[in-house]
Amino acid sequence: MKILVTGGAGFIGSHTTLALLEAGHDVVVVDSLANSDVESLRRVSDLSKKTLTFRELDLLDVESLAEVFTETIFDAVVHFAGLKAVGESVTSPLLYYRNNVVGTLNLLDAMIEAGVKTFVFSSSATVYGDSDALPLTEGTPLGATNAYGRTKEQLEGILTDLVASDPAMSVAILRYFNPVGAHESGRIGEDPRGTPNNLLPFVAQVAVGRHEKVSIYGDDYDTPDGTGVRDYIHVMDLAEGHLAALDFLMSQKGVFRWNLGTGNGSSVLEVIRAFERAVGRNLPYAVAARRPGDSAMSFADSSAAKRDLGWSATRDLDQMCADHWRWQNTNPEGYTTSK
Ligand code: UD1
Repeated sequence: MKILVTGGAGFIGSHTTLALLEAGHDVVVVDSLANSDVESLRRVSDLSKKTLTFRELDLLDVESLAEVFTETIFDAVVHFAGLKAVGESVTSPLLYYRNNVVGTLNLLDAMIEAGVKTFVFSSSATVYGDSDALPLTEGTPLGATNAYGRTKEQLEGILTDLVASDPAMSVAILRYFNPVGAHESGRIGEDPRGTPNNLLPFVAQVAVGRHEKVSIYGDDYDTPDGTGVRDYIHVMDLAEGHLAALDFLMSQKGVFRWNLGTGNGSSVLEVIRAFERAVGRNLPYAVAARRPGDSAMSFADSSAAKRDLGWSATRDLDQMCADHWRWQNTNPEGYTTSK
């Protein structure tokens, strides 16, 4: 198939682009490079020994977007592009609504104009807010608690309305839990700009000496060891989930929602221990105050994806840490100054 991947130079986008190329698809990537490096795509080409087409483009640029759809007749669009920093979304909500919501509307307009009916959307477990109905199923009521999360929740609603207006459409809404790890080659991985907000990239940067110690945001939660519990999922499992969803959409019309998680929760301390095993030494950490807005626990019921897509995550926390470490250790400053 010919597939358009938006945000394909980013963390999840680059790993999914690699999986798509390896499965024999033709891929066109558009990415604004606002939070990614085109070097990721050079490495994706190297690893897959396939070429891909890249175009630097912002989804707010409707003219250029229309050109992409006139140059190629796509079978499907996989849409990753968007902003994703919770804190920034709280201080700059309009930036988030414009980029994520208006950007996606522009993309959907261009798709519809070109007659493309198949769409895979990057959503997030963040749409469940701080629901304590665990495990989270696709039927758990939504209730995002910040502007970033609300852009995802709104877009899910927009896609649902769109499919209701055009029953010929096939749309998959994929709710990612906590994506971590890297391709097993260690050549592509997550390269956050500035200080990482998320746990795994921060732990990895402590391990290469970019930060002194990990701060554990609270050890007095109602969890087995008092630290926050999340459902970490290997980015290659996530990439494979997109392929399974695309496959499903080839024979089904309508809008479908799936959690992509492992179904297992790991605590902050368990993550640090697993990363220490990968690195082969202890890592410095200290308990700090809770981070505002954090919930105690979040993990998926991932049975719907298994039932409908025949997909389930196969890589465990030790493999996530080993692969994340291989990437960080050989690319201590990310793509720009790789060894
Ligand atoms: C965060 C976002 C969420 C987003 C997800 C993407 C917030 C409130 N939520 O989720 O919207 O979809 O990332 O992966 O930002 N922790 C530490 N020390 C650190 C960093 C994190 O102890 O330096 C703890 C957190 O308190 C939490 C766990 O580690 O218990 C995971 O945190 P993080 O990686 O930021 O993910 P989420 O909070 O689940």
